[in-house]
Amino acid sequence: MQFSFAPMEGITSCFFRRIHAACFPGVDRYWAPFLAPDGSGRCKEGAWRDLRPENNPGALPVPQILCNKAEAFLSVARELAAMGYTEVNLNAGCPSATVVPKHKGAGMLQDLRSLDDFLADVFSRCELSISVKTRLGLASAAEFPAILEVYRRYPLAELIVHARDRAGMYRSAPDLAAFSAALPACPFPVCYNGSITDPASLAAVQSAAPGLERVMLGRGAAANPALFRELRGGAPLGAEELRDVLARYGAVLSDSGIGEHYTLGRLKELWFYLAVNFPGDAKGLKRLRKAQTLPDYRAAVAALFAGDGFRPGAWGSADARSLT
Ligand SMILES: Cc1cc2nc3c(=O)[nH]c(=O)nc-3n(C[C@H](O)[C@H](O)[C@H](O)COP(=O)(O)O)c2cc1C
Repeated sequence: MQFSFAPMEGITSCFFRRIHAACFPGVDRYWAPFLAPDGSGRCKEGAWRDLRPENNPGALPVPQILCNKAEAFLSVARELAAMGYTEVNLNAGCPSATVVPKHKGAGMLQDLRSLDDFLADVFSRCELSISVKTRLGLASAAEFPAILEVYRRYPLAELIVHARDRAGMYRSAPDLAAFSAALPACPFPVCYNGSITDPASLAAVQSAAPGLERVMLGRGAAANPALFRELRGGAPLGAEELRDVLARYGAVLSDSGIGEHYTLGRLKELWFYLAVNFPGDAKGLKRLRKAQTLPDYRAAVAALFAGDGFRPGAWGSADARSLT
């Protein structure tokens, strides 16, 4: 089985990826959060910084583009190629209400003719191989056969299927039946994505889709950075290694020059997911959420670990689904 760490804006930055890879080796590929170019292909400087090879020592992630204009996509892809990238991913899954009405992300699935034209243009002119991260549909998984018919016309490097429709956002139960029914019609490698949080949820996916060789983990891995190891039969997350990865991540953020406010914001965003490991310590978690300075934050983290509330992996798929 090949394991990917999903792109998660605000979580899986180059700083996080670097520390995670050092502390928890065993991820086959990291996928970078999306670049969102404007109409002429310009992206924010911070987005480029995340992808610079010097900020990604060891291995480059797979970069992702959120856009529906072929020229802009190709212009970003050219810059990525110059940086040493060999593959680029198209985001056809983002469910955000600020993205979908612009026919971007999952909004690309609204008009399959435009999607087809876009893919024809980028596949004929892009020097990088192209993978796609998709949803099963906008309103219903019943849309997927027609969507797949479009993808099948192109030599996708990989199709990552977040097995929900857009309406399900991040909450509905993944539709394993619709996912597995589509597999035989896929002439390219397929990667499953959606609510894998523990060995049992991986086993459920494998039993619905025998022969599946790739999975991508998002929130489950943010909540349990040792999940990849655990899914390969290794030990569950330990308190000491969680403390260590947090300390190293905090130090890298502080050293990066983004400032205390953003460092704190990034750490708290990660704790939104890590909180499930401390199910009985609502007070300690509230203190952490309220921390306004890094010393306050560090004191709150120390208090959480000093208590006896650490229960690694204390969530099942039901809890994972309730995260937004
Ligand atoms: C905070 C957050 C940020 C995300 N950012 C991205 C992104 O930049 N690109 C993308 O394709 N998906 C993004 N996703 C979706 C995840 O990659 C993944 O498809 C989704 O969380 C389902 O997988 P999971 O159930 O394992 O979390 C994001 C999800 C969350 C919760």
